[in-house]
Amino acid sequence: MNLPNMIEAKKRNKKEFNVYNYEDVKCVLKNKKYFIRTYGCQMNEHDTEKIKGILESNGFVACENYVDADVVIINTCAIRENAHNKVFGFLGQLKHLKETKKDLVIGVCGCMPQEESVTNELKDKYKFVNFVFGTHNIEDVIKLINESVTSGKQSIEVFSKYGDVCEGFPFKRSNNITAYVDIILGCDKFCTYCIVPYTRGAQRSRSKESIVEEVVNLKKQGFKEVTLLGQNVNAYGKDIYENYTLANLLKDVSDTGIERIRFVTSHPWDFTDEMVCAIRDLPNVMPYVHLPVQSGSNRILKLMGRRYTKESYISLYNKLRSIEGVSITTDIIVGFPGETEEDFNETLDLVNTCKFDGAFTFAYSPRENTPASIMKDQVDEDVKFERLNRLNEVVNKYSNMGNSKYLDKIVNVLVLGKSEKGEDKVMGYTENMKLVNVVGGNELIGQIVKVRITDTKSFSMDGVLAQ
Ligand code: SAH
Ligand code: SF4
Ligand code: F3S
Repeated sequence: MNLPNMIEAKKRNKKEFNVYNYEDVKCVLKNKKYFIRTYGCQMNEHDTEKIKGILESNGFVACENYVDADVVIINTCAIRENAHNKVFGFLGQLKHLKETKKDLVIGVCGCMPQEESVTNELKDKYKFVNFVFGTHNIEDVIKLINESVTSGKQSIEVFSKYGDVCEGFPFKRSNNITAYVDIILGCDKFCTYCIVPYTRGAQRSRSKESIVEEVVNLKKQGFKEVTLLGQNVNAYGKDIYENYTLANLLKDVSDTGIERIRFVTSHPWDFTDEMVCAIRDLPNVMPYVHLPVQSGSNRILKLMGRRYTKESYISLYNKLRSIEGVSITTDIIVGFPGETEEDFNETLDLVNTCKFDGAFTFAYSPRENTPASIMKDQVDEDVKFERLNRLNEVVNKYSNMGNSKYLDKIVNVLVLGKSEKGEDKVMGYTENMKLVNVVGGNELIGQIVKVRITDTKSFSMDGVLAQ
């Protein structure tokens, strides 16, 4: 058994990390059905693609409904309290299922087990959970299934460490059109509210060669788009190269000729002019930037440890805005400890200045062991939610305005799948990441088509194929 330790997780005492290759382990279970539920960010979704790949290369078959599965895995997120509650709610349902299905094997993985309190709770109160692992040892999933099944005991292996890089996972991608590619793991920013640097370890870049090779292979397999992933992609390369940054990587990935390149998430601190130029000049790098601001008050930004001011954010924002056709979205937290009505109004002012194409907005949620969780002047929940509502109104107004500019315009849409808006429609994204529901059949899936926009809303647009 290996339990997490958040003091160890905070250490950044190593400059180098190991890069190793995934090695296949044979599972003691044969021809089994599995189900994975994933919470959290794109990195977690991509980790699920790794776990699925490992299970399927061992003969496991996916099933649609968890009640039919022999192995159920929950890939968890620790970013806010409500993510926790959802996981424990689902575990309650699984406990119930296991009363009639004794051989059901249940696993919990991802960011939540990296928290000491969670893993201790799973160990002491959730003994029906067969195995637990964290973000540092995804490749151990089969080993842990084997151990827990053969011993009949709970297997827990969660490491709190700087972290390594595992290459060569057998991915099971969620579709064959657009793919996630990890470029940098972990985070060293330690924003005072955030748990990610503790759950995902230190910032570790993958080598440019492995990234480019992965994109070349994806292109050969017919993928049209890649999204380069990291908690802070703009820090790419700093830990392993003297003079090779995200700007250089974008150029090398662009040279593979893949049709569309995206990247998330950007931290304003590491965003250089070269990167702005790369996005502007490379034809297959899409004009879309997710640039979390978190707050419009310099006092709060300082308490958050974000390393930029409202003024420097706006200056970067304006440089990015000058890229033709660009859209820019953000993340905002309201109710950070000490946030006054005046601070909040500065956030509203910033939104009014920037007129974001979209924003993910959150009420501050205190996280175990983070500095902000013990700061004085925690804000009342009602105040947080009242501010969140006021913020959302302003944010939605600008998303709507941003979309309405496209009425009657022709846009290029990469069609990804069926639309939820009707049997006769498919859905996809514009170059600048606007969701479009297009009248048309499944034969359009996987194609980049020209669409004329016929209606716009806050979160999506409707369109028809342009003649
Ligand atoms: N690495 C990315 C974001 C990762 S988490 C970045 O730095 O931009 C995604 C978003 O969740 C954050 O941008 C932040 O807005 C929000 N978030 C993180 N911790 C939070 C907390 N404790 N309470 C509320 N929102 C939080
Ligand atoms: Fe969290 Fe800040 Fe790192 Fe983003 S940059 S993952 S908000 S610590
Ligand atoms: Fe959540 Fe972990 Fe991502 S905490 S947001 S799943 S890095």
